[in-house]
Amino acid sequence: MAPEPVRVLITGAAGQIGYSLIPLVCKGDVFGPAQPVILHLLDIPPMKGVLDGVVMEINDCAYPLLLDTVATVDEAEAFRNIDAAFLVGSMPRREGMERKDLLAANVKIFASQGRALAAHSKPSVKVLVVGNPANTNALIASYFAKDKIPARNFTAMTRLDQNRATALLARENQVPVASVEKVVIWGNHSSTQFPDASNATANGAKLAFSGHKEDFISTVQKRGAAVIAARKLSSAMSAAKAAADHMRDWFQGTDKWVSMGVISDGNPYAGAGVPDGLIFSFPCTVDPATKEWAIVPGVAFDDFAAKRIAATAQELSEERGEAQAATANA
Ligand code: NAD
Ligand code: LMR
Repeated sequence: MAPEPVRVLITGAAGQIGYSLIPLVCKGDVFGPAQPVILHLLDIPPMKGVLDGVVMEINDCAYPLLLDTVATVDEAEAFRNIDAAFLVGSMPRREGMERKDLLAANVKIFASQGRALAAHSKPSVKVLVVGNPANTNALIASYFAKDKIPARNFTAMTRLDQNRATALLARENQVPVASVEKVVIWGNHSSTQFPDASNATANGAKLAFSGHKEDFISTVQKRGAAVIAARKLSSAMSAAKAAADHMRDWFQGTDKWVSMGVISDGNPYAGAGVPDGLIFSFPCTVDPATKEWAIVPGVAFDDFAAKRIAATAQELSEERGEAQAATANA
């Protein structure tokens, strides 16, 4: 017998990431090759015509796993009864901006969607925030949903940074990308993130090019800006792939280290300066039976790493303060 369908929401579905993410979800790359899905697509009223065009194309793909598509500009309808949410819809940054420059515009969206999650979604819903500033938006959404949905159901995407770092290490070391493991992104999806290659391996063996290399760190930190400078648009194909990787590992489980922005309450790295109350990227594994993530404890770091972990935590604490001010009247 076919399993019950999962209801999957993608917000910003008429945008560029949505256009690359929808096929991955519908083909079974995220929830599995035998798992039927019902798509919920949300965008804003001025984009209704574009959204209708996206639905025409979805229909024309004739995806065997797709049972139905709910395309709407109404939050209540979009969030009703969902099992998983990709919160993508928001304003992207343009050249010369930092992601946190989007805070004032975007946290309001996530406050409203946090309320909609609490009002309409399943309490077990798994939420991945992609829209920037992703960590702080996830924190805001979880705050506004807190009466119904546990904070651990809210995550922010740093998988794109992990994928960028992994691909770079594979190229530098001339090893297959699939052989590289234990690359960690600590902290914020911003230019203070700490891409940590010091524990990285290929087929279990330590990499020759690893450790703390300034070039490697800054290339990964600034990769989003480099893509914007080249494309005049922010990353979309790679962002959608990373979102699919993140949700697949969360739904299907993994014993590999995967970087996820998760609630830092009770985290094992408080000694390195990571306080409670932030959505902070840590190395995580996911139990396939319970679909619950756990932060990998005991990852070694030196003074160089500790300084960077503390700096990105500091930035997230500041963003949290600004976001709270921005949503005070939301
Ligand atoms: P886009 O402008 O192409 O699409 C965004 C879509 O969201 C638009 O269709 C817009 O109408 C819609 N939207 C705006 N407000 C909405 C709301 N309240 N509800 C529903 N939909 C709404 O942008 P994009 O390139 O798809 O990027 C989306 C977001 O993802 C941006 O914030 C971008 O910075 C972020 N991003 C994050 C990562 C990451 O690694 N975390 C990577 C790439 C992009
Ligand atoms: C990225 O990392 O590519 C995205 O967060 C888009 C951006 O603003 O950098």
